[in-house]
Formats: sequence, C-alpha cells, structure tokens
Amino acid sequence: MQIHLNYHLKWIEVMSAKNNKIANLKLPNGSNIEFPIHSGTIGPDVIDVKKLYSESDHFTYDPGFTSTGSCKSKITYIDGEKGVLLHRGYKIEDLAENCDFLEVAYLLLNSDLPNPEQKKVFDNKITTHTMIHEQLSMFFRGFRRDAHAMAVMCGVVGALSAFYHDSTDITDPSQRLVASHRLVAKIPTIAAMAYKFSIGQPFIYPRNDLSYSENFLNMMFSVPAEKYEIDPILSKAMDKILILHADHEQNASTSTVRLAGSSGANPFACIAAGIASLWGPAHGGANEAVIHMLNEIQKNGNVYEFIKKAKDPNDPFRLMGFGHRVYKNYDPRATVMKKTADAVLGAVGKEDEPMFILARELEKIALEDDYFVTKKLYPNVDFYSGIILQAMGFPSSLFTVLFAVARTVGWVAQWNEMIEDSEQRIGRPRQLYIGEKQRAFTPLNKRN
Ligand code: CMC
Repeated sequence: MQIHLNYHLKWIEVMSAKNNKIANLKLPNGSNIEFPIHSGTIGPDVIDVKKLYSESDHFTYDPGFTSTGSCKSKITYIDGEKGVLLHRGYKIEDLAENCDFLEVAYLLLNSDLPNPEQKKVFDNKITTHTMIHEQLSMFFRGFRRDAHAMAVMCGVVGALSAFYHDSTDITDPSQRLVASHRLVAKIPTIAAMAYKFSIGQPFIYPRNDLSYSENFLNMMFSVPAEKYEIDPILSKAMDKILILHADHEQNASTSTVRLAGSSGANPFACIAAGIASLWGPAHGGANEAVIHMLNEIQKNGNVYEFIKKAKDPNDPFRLMGFGHRVYKNYDPRATVMKKTADAVLGAVGKEDEPMFILARELEKIALEDDYFVTKKLYPNVDFYSGIILQAMGFPSSLFTVLFAVARTVGWVAQWNEMIEDSEQRIGRPRQLYIGEKQRAFTPLNKRN
C-alpha cells in the first residue's frame, strides 16, 4: 500500500512483515525511516510517528487533526462511514433504548455495564454529591442576569476547584474518583441554578429521591410555590438526550479536556476548559444555532433560499445541524433523536409544531440535493435536539448547557483514562513556522 503524504515527504510505503506492520518513510535526502503500525480492536491502523522528529528533524503537518490520533482509548468507537457509535462496545441505539443515564455514566467511567448492586451503589454515590457548597451559590449573583448560561457554567465549574480541595490531587486515585463523582453529580445542579438565576426565580435544591433526569427537570422547572409533576415521557426523553450526548471520542472539547489535563491541571479546571470549547457553534453550540436558523427560515418563508446559501462557496452560511467531521453517513444519534422528537412533541401536544414540520422538510430537501449527497452531509445529533428541548420548555440559550451536562461524564472518563495511561505526556503540538526569519533589531527612533 502507498500513501501520498505531502510534497516534501514524497511517499510512505506501508509493508506488512509477518505480524509487525511497518511504515517506511523516504525523505528527500534519501534517508529511510521505519515506523511501527499499531492495530486497534476495530478501526483503521495507526502509524506511530512518535520518533519522526528525533530521527528525521521533520514534523507532521495536520491542521484540525484530520489524520492524527492523539491517544489510545477504550471508551468510544465511531465508524463514520457506516454511522456506528459504540461505548465500551455497546451500540448507542441499545444504550439509549434500554438504559438510564447513570447506567451509561457507569459504563463510560468503568469498563462494563453495572450489575443491579453496582448500579445501586453508583446511583447512591452520585445522588449524595448533588448539592453544591452553599457559598458557591453566591457566585451566580456576581453575574449579570442576562449573561449567557455557558459563560456562567465556565465560571462556576472552574470555581469548583476553589471549593473541593480534597479532590484535586490528581495523583491520588481515590481523589480522582471523588472528583469524578462530584462533577457528574453537581453539573445538573449548577446548570439549573444558572437558569433559575437568569429568570429571577429561587434556586431549587436537588432531591435525592428522584432519578438523575427527574431531579434535573425538577430543579429546572419547579417553583417553591407549586407542586411540580414530572412527566415520565419527558424524563425518559431527558435520559435519552443525556445518553446520546454522553461521549463522542476525541472531539474538540474532549481533546481540550485531555490537553488541559495533560499538564496536571485539576479536574474541575479541565472540565471548565471543555465547557469553553463546547460553546462554539461548530461544536455544542450547533443545537442553539439550528433553532435560530429555523426561526430565520420561518420568517423568510423560503427554504430553498437557505439551501442555496448553504451551497454557495462564497457565503459563510452553513446548514446548522448538518455535516460532521467523522460521520459521512446518518449520525446514529440523530436517528434516535428524531424518534424522541416524535414522542416528546406528541406528549406535549405539539406534533404539528411548525418548526418540526419545517425541520423535516429541510432534512428531506437536503438529503435529496446533490451538494449534500456528494459531500455526505447528513443531519447530526443537533438537528432535532433543539426542537425537543424547546418543546420541553428549555430556552435556546440553555441547549448547549444541556450538552455540557451530558458530556461531563464523557470528559471525566476520558480525563481519567489519560491520567492512567503511562504513555501520556504533556500535550505539545509543533508548528510549521512561516513568519520572519531572525532579523536585526531597529531602535524606535530609527524605524520608518
Ligand atoms: N452546510 C453546508 N455545507 C457544509 C456543511 C453544512 N452544514 N458542513 C460542511 N459543509 C461543506 C463545507 O463547505 C465543505 O465544502 P468544500 O469541500 O466545498 O469546501 C465540505 O462540506 C466539508 O466541510 P468541512 O468544514 O471541511 O468539514 P469539517 O469536518 O471541518 O466540519 C462541521 C464539520 C460539523 C464543523 C461542519 O459540517 C459544520 O460546520 N456543520 C454545521 C455545524 C454543526 O451542525 N455542528 C455540529 C456537529 S455535531 C455535534 C458535535 O459532535 O459537536
């Protein structure tokens, strides 16, 4: 097999010698370097280029890491061509259909699904960490009421490290475990408090007699003055949404968490970094952007105009909720999400919601359009999630926060895996420098 690397590096020949696969790189100066090739349990092989710089004085160049593996991982596997997503070997569709969120959280943090006793112990661990230090609640009052909830999340989650000193020693496995449980347990409380503060309602304390999703809905939507009935269809849907967003391999925010953690930073600071990365519209901010886009289309009334804009290479507009770096097929999470949308909109009596009808129409047009077909652009997890969340009563500014609530367990699992990996070192990418060469300094009064 031959892989064309780039202009300077000519060719890499990949040879199979018995069980040891080797990649052979020929450099322009005629020297040859051999690299081991590693095989995972499934998925493409990887060429181990760790020694490239020390042996050849060259780096690899891969902006956006489209061809670069940054770690070994046992947590999540994606086959983007086939539209497959597995957590610890289990299909996401099976997990979303049969598990509650904490079962999947246990699976991500450990190597297998819990048995009933393990599940009971784990649920208990999480529910006994759901409250936050009372003084932390003062932090919310320091923000403007109209602050974006993700801005509040970055600040408050980062501040956890100022309150939970007894779980910031990353070299101590028992402290790492407590920090992991604290993060998973407290993140819904913090998210709900951010929302309550923004609308001027009192904070609602967590209730440990409720499931993870029920408790979150209760903290979000109940008020002390009235009894709040939790609709089981909505709490089930919330569980599915959380499960579908729980982990997704080495995406931007997860890689951010790993990179921040590689320096030895404490877990609360690392998760705050992940939240900041998730906020962007190309990542977790897409579900909010989908709703804004659908609103714009509704106002304008012409779907085809937006499709045309999305296809125009000179127009920065993109169809939000479409396309994915890894999936070149229907995102399996989007399939479950679409079904969940049907259930939730039915439960709240909004099956004829114009936005849902528009979303389905947009999806149909795009899936039949040559541009989207040839570029393999399919709906991703965010295309329908915003519609569901809106129907459940969440404001659009909170959608990315929901994503952060769900993804915290994935970040924590990946962070733990990194700390325990003896091969991991501080993350330090290199660059292709294209600036000025060294030059003589000119004093200020001699510069033109
Ligand atoms: N609408 C129109 N054209 C698109 C879209 C889109 N949504 N997505 C990609 N393209 C085009 C893009 O213009 C490019 O065309 P060309 O080759 O002619 O330059 C081609 O498809 C490849 O795009 P890319 O930007 O090189 O792909 P990427 O892997 O860097 O980006 C993406 C992936 C998700 C950032 C991108 O598809 C996008 O911006 N989608 C909309 C935002 C979105 O829905 N994000 C949520 C991702 S799923 C949630 C998560 O896991 O975080």
